[in-house]
Amino acid sequence: MMQLLKPYQTRFNDLLDQYWRNRAIEPHLKAAMVYATTNGGKRFRPALVWLIAEALGLPREKLDAAALALELIHCYSLVHDDLPAMDDDALRRGQPTVHVQFDEATAILAGDALQMEALALLVRAELPEAIRLRQVQILSHAAGSQGMVAGQMLDMRATQSQPDLEQLILLHELKTGALIRAALLLGAAPHHDYETLRKPLSRLGLTLGLAFQVQDDILEVEQTTEQLGKDTDSDRRNGKATFPALLGLEKAKAYRDQLIQQCHQLLAQLPVRSPTLQQVIDFVAERGH
Ligand code: IPE
Ligand code: IPE
Ligand code: MG
Ligand code: MG
Repeated sequence: MMQLLKPYQTRFNDLLDQYWRNRAIEPHLKAAMVYATTNGGKRFRPALVWLIAEALGLPREKLDAAALALELIHCYSLVHDDLPAMDDDALRRGQPTVHVQFDEATAILAGDALQMEALALLVRAELPEAIRLRQVQILSHAAGSQGMVAGQMLDMRATQSQPDLEQLILLHELKTGALIRAALLLGAAPHHDYETLRKPLSRLGLTLGLAFQVQDDILEVEQTTEQLGKDTDSDRRNGKATFPALLGLEKAKAYRDQLIQQCHQLLAQLPVRSPTLQQVIDFVAERGH
């Protein structure tokens, strides 16, 4: 199933290598930024940006900047998520986390710099100004206080008070759903009918993101550290609110499968036919890391 994402991963990794080669940055900061972004992630979010664009008949190249920008934001979120003050994890993508490999200050600063790098990429994209502005709006909304960061705040606070199902859903939609929704919105942004597509795409993205995070929680219970490339004791050690912890493993899986079915229904309502996107939806539940 990872075969499906392969061409997008290759395209992404080539683009990113080229990007870093041409970018002059203070060497220590650059080393940490490069380390944080070139350590073998699945590149799921950029793949989604390109896939939805292709499904809508837009050329892939138009979305290169958006694909890069979104993944830089995702990578920064992981760098900060792993910090001692947050999840305190030493392993990410099978390698030492950025604060372990470098130091905490460097990890914080590399994360800060990656955020601004992402916005600057969108601003410089070769697209009409109105589209670039739209993409900046989509990404800043998804990444900040209305999206991922708010989700991370709820996640940190939920370690003190056990949230109920409704609160856990909101938490997951924000911390993970927001960026996955942004993938679909960014990819559709150059489309002439974006305003009509926005709502249904938004629902699909949020539901897919929620399913993705439910599966992330399940994997942490079921897989080994070697398989995941990250510490499988992290959620338990930190007393995290997760779907398996709240519902039990079997019910968490049933809930994930229900979300996947919803995603298929939401995709079917869109004016696109993409067997690849259907497979990507299934991949979210079937992925092993
Ligand atoms: C991990 O995301 C963190 C979550 C939001 C669940 P991914 O599973 O996409 O991580 P990488 O990029 O492949 O390492
Ligand atoms: C990561 O969530 C989500 C973000 C970084 C926004 P988790 O803390 O649950 O993910 P992992 O298990 O560290 O990848
Ligand atoms: Mg976390
Ligand atoms: Mg974490």
